Amino acid sequence: MRFHPDVARWLPPSATDPAEAVRNSIERFAAGWRERRHAPWGLFREGRLIGHCGLNYVPEFGETEVLRALHPDAWGRGYATEAARASLRYGFETLGLDLIFAMTLPDNLSSQAVMRRLGLTYRRRVEYKGFSDIVWFDMDRQTWLSSSRSADASPGHPTRHR
Ligand SMILES: CC(C)(COP(=O)(O)OP(=O)(O)OC[C@H]1O[C@@H](n2cnc3c(N)ncnc32)[C@H](O)[C@@H]1OP(=O)(O)O)[C@@H](O)C(=O)NCCC(=O)NCCS
Repeated sequence: MRFHPDVARWLPPSATDPAEAVRNSIERFAAGWRERRHAPWGLFREGRLIGHCGLNYVPEFGETEVLRALHPDAWGRGYATEAARASLRYGFETLGLDLIFAMTLPDNLSSQAVMRRLGLTYRRRVEYKGFSDIVWFDMDRQTWLSSSRSADASPGHPTRHR
């Protein structure tokens, strides 16, 4: 999925061959779980891996981001929004993080739509891994708690099943 051209065009270029890059990511994510109790989760639909989404500490910024990437076959169904919402809930309510951010290229409008749908706010442009002009969105815990309290009161909230 990471190397599908429609996905790879939005992500930092990989310095190594695909198999090694995947091994490196798995090791990095496993270390994240040991050290910080978070890392991106694999997303499965009917037993097939369709992408990943979850929390990732970014040392360059000293903050935690919500990562999301799906195979193009799984786009357009709300899975990224649902998974990113679960990641925010885990980060703010279970881990007690103060802030979670998300970044993407300025012309990655699908990715920015996911962030806006979740209530993250555009703040600024940053440089990251050779990309300049990256757009940065974030949300703090208080905003999450207020918005999830009002969502709890709404019977139509998509991730609440009563
Ligand atoms: C970023 C990415 C995960 C977004 O995927 P996506 O499918 O657009 O996002 P969602 O899964 O939230 O789906 C939203 C779409 O599903 C539709 N949808 C259908 N059912 C839905 C539901 N129950 N809930 C929410 N949206 C739903 C929405 O209307 C929206 O459609 P639209 O794009 O036509 O407006 C995907 O584009 C991707 O993997 N890109 C490559 C990697 C990448 O760019 N990662 C982020 C930057 S690092």
